[in-house]
Amino acid sequence: MSKNKNSRSLPKSKGMETAAVYSPADCAVKVKRIVLQPGNRQILEEFIAILGMKEKFAEHDVPIPNKIVMFGPPGTGKTLTAFYMAQRLELPLIVVRLDAVINSFLGETASNVRKLFDYAKSSPCVLFLDEFDAIARTRENNDEVKEMSRVVNTLLQCLDEFEGGSVLMAATNLEEELDHAVWRRFDTRMTYRLPDDADREEYVRLMAAGFEHEKGVAEKAVDLLQGTSFADMEQIYLKAKRKAIIASSSLTYGILEASYREYQPRKQA
Ligand SMILES: Nc1ncnc2c1ncn2[C@@H]1O[C@H](COP(=O)(O)OP(=O)(O)O)[C@@H](O)[C@H]1O
Ligand SMILES: [Mg+2]
Repeated sequence: MSKNKNSRSLPKSKGMETAAVYSPADCAVKVKRIVLQPGNRQILEEFIAILGMKEKFAEHDVPIPNKIVMFGPPGTGKTLTAFYMAQRLELPLIVVRLDAVINSFLGETASNVRKLFDYAKSSPCVLFLDEFDAIARTRENNDEVKEMSRVVNTLLQCLDEFEGGSVLMAATNLEEELDHAVWRRFDTRMTYRLPDDADREEYVRLMAAGFEHEKGVAEKAVDLLQGTSFADMEQIYLKAKRKAIIASSSLTYGILEASYREYQPRKQA
């Protein structure tokens, strides 16, 4: 368990070291430069609007959504979206890496998964299960196969029983690996992709704000960074800012290009 002044009492058993708690204020700091692709922004806004109209939904006997699964390549903002959700809902965020929960104490995984869900039931929060596909990974060892099917069954049950003021979010890079029975229990699905021209433009604008730039750099950056993820763009841009600061220079295209070369992003598209 990570230390955090706002953290509350989470289950303190083995395996729970993999959970970290963030207050809405912590979350607000992280999401200052989030770029949400239009389709995903709409899904999120609608989801948040619905949570603000609970009585109306009860009146019409329409259940409210509370489970989101996010799928897409690394560095495209899935984890960041969980922070954004917690900030918008003003709820604490609990981040759990499911692969870590499973790998460290396989024999206790099912009971640890249940503890997390029990906690979310008793106290409103955004419960974020990262590396969600870890649940579906097949294993060679027979005991492990048995244990994993126990974990999946527990998870299905927890998903079915998930209610109250909390929101569950899960993220995976590998959509195909998710057990269909798990997948269909989510009421909301969001797909993430690498940034397109418009996304890059928006992100570069956010990154450039308040930092002195040589004229025209931001426009050229949008071209230079083509094919990189948001996470790569962030690293390259921060590197460039550092170089500019130590050189007491504005951010020039030369600096940005040098940072790009130094970082060597793996182009994914
Ligand atoms: N859509 C985005 N908008 C702004 N920053 C992003 C976005 N996606 C990723 N980043 C940045 O890249 C890094 C990794 O993002 P993360 O949300 O962990 O990606 P994922 O969970 O999809 O692998 C973070 O530091 C984050 O700030
Ligand atoms: Mg992530």
